Amino acid sequence: MIRVAGESDLVQLSRIDHEIFPHDAYPFFVLRQLFEVHGERFLVLDCDSRMSGYSLLATTPDGKQSWVLGLGVVPHARGVGHGRRLMVESLDRLSADRVAEVRLSVEPGNAVALNLYESLGFSRVDHRPDYFGAGSDRLILRLSLSG
Ligand SMILES: CC(C)(COP(=O)(O)OP(=O)(O)OC[C@H]1O[C@@H](n2cnc3c(N)ncnc32)[C@H](O)[C@@H]1OP(=O)(O)O)[C@@H](O)C(=O)NCCC(=O)NCCS
Repeated sequence: MIRVAGESDLVQLSRIDHEIFPHDAYPFFVLRQLFEVHGERFLVLDCDSRMSGYSLLATTPDGKQSWVLGLGVVPHARGVGHGRRLMVESLDRLSADRVAEVRLSVEPGNAVALNLYESLGFSRVDHRPDYFGAGSDRLILRLSLSG
């Protein structure tokens, strides 16, 4: 089941964020502030009553562009469609909001995420060396939602 995250989910959300991104998890205070600002776009996926994944998409102030700030599924629940379901649900909500385009950054070697995003229609638009600091290159992908 996919649902909008609530304040009482934050502790568990932070736990799974650390499981999913052991080196790059959001500090708890950042997660909380993201929740305060983008709460409606913080989706969590429950499987067998356990929080197993989340997505976070944030829209720019002009309402035209969104960025995927987080997408992840806990390691033991991967490969059964949860990541795809989270992205499809997130994109449906952005389309309903009439957001024109979605962008994201992804590690060039993250083949699983690249397969998922490209199968949903995202295309590579840039390769940014040191995007997240020295040695942290990222590919930038883009998807048009305006047809
Ligand atoms: C990326 C991630 C969210 C995918 O979630 P998932 O639930 O495992 O993915 P799904 O089962 O929904 O599969 C979606 C697609 O991903 C790709 N994929 C999934 N597992 C794969 C694997 N082992 N090898 C290659 N591609 C794979 C496929 O394109 C798949 O589509 P298909 O099932 O139609 O073939 C998950 O692997 C994850 O949390 N990774 C760590 C965090 C991360 O890298 N997040 C993205 C940051 S940009």
